[in-house]
Amino acid sequence: MKETATLWWDDALPGIRFIDQTLLPTKYTIVRCTSVDRLITAIKRLEVRGAPALGVAGGYGVALAANSCTEESFTTFTRKVQKESGSIRESRPTAVNLSWGVDRVLARVLAATDAASAQKAALDEAKAIAAEDTCCCHAIGEYGAALLSDHCTVLTHCNAGALACSSWGTALGVIRSAVTAGKNVKVIACETRPLLQGARLTAWELARDGIDVTVITDSTAAHIMRTGTIDAVIIGADRITGDAVFNKIGTYMHAVCARHHGIPFYVAAPLSTFDATRTEREVTIEERGRGELAVMGNRILIPDGVPVKNYAFDATPMDLVSAIITERGIVRPPLDIGTLLSRTASNNEP
Ligand code: MRU
Repeated sequence: MKETATLWWDDALPGIRFIDQTLLPTKYTIVRCTSVDRLITAIKRLEVRGAPALGVAGGYGVALAANSCTEESFTTFTRKVQKESGSIRESRPTAVNLSWGVDRVLARVLAATDAASAQKAALDEAKAIAAEDTCCCHAIGEYGAALLSDHCTVLTHCNAGALACSSWGTALGVIRSAVTAGKNVKVIACETRPLLQGARLTAWELARDGIDVTVITDSTAAHIMRTGTIDAVIIGADRITGDAVFNKIGTYMHAVCARHHGIPFYVAAPLSTFDATRTEREVTIEERGRGELAVMGNRILIPDGVPVKNYAFDATPMDLVSAIITERGIVRPPLDIGTLLSRTASNNEP
């Protein structure tokens, strides 16, 4: 199985390189990103997307801000890096990994005593986030694979794969690890309207690895759960609060259907996606533009003047979740996230 990186630092630029995910599956293009403004555009346009990948992008973004800053005094240097970090942090609101990655690297900049050491520390920390993310995905994969039977069909939504992470993936990492362990896993990928991350990205990366994948419309999921062909649902997450899992719009309806049909509903996510500070009601669900729903290629799909609602994410109440697969093991609701994070920080146990 190929271990492809989604985004990485290129010393020669210097800057970030990433796969432009808006062009897949027809074009595989690597973008050279040498400015914070370009990175913010990429995040907003979903050229770079998926919660863990946004954490990595946030970290590299702060490193880029620090390494392209030519301010003379350290005070003005840190002020500028802080300002640019704020703009990166605000570029998408729902995935907590983005602010987590930004804040982790920014802390290293603010702890430094001069610009040169801040630049080095920022880059070291951002590279560490990227490397840790790959390790987390493999650990999630190993723990999650144990939940799957030797022959099974798994339904997934959106793209929680290598493209959404540094590499390997969370939900798709579980599938990759299960296949690597010799299990026969078939994947049903929901197309994921309106931006089709399931059809374009999940299908692309699984087919590339020779994993059996079939794409369905989002509205087919209930039908195939009812006819008994789905053994488990596995999805990723953008933010996990004590009371809900935020993920791509449409996830909640899969959770309701899975519960109704007695199918386990698993969430695969690193601890960087957990948010101990907020409840469901305090999280902003991103709303995106009309054009994503109203236009497909050259066709207008919705009459002029008719409004749309384009929520990018929804919240699944925790009581619909069978288990959450993390890099430190499997946790089952009810969750006390504050305790969970402090315990994993101190003794490696979930
Ligand atoms: O809008 P996107 O494509 O960034 O949404 C991504 C998702 O909803 C993923 O399922 C989530 O980030 C988990 S990625 C491991």
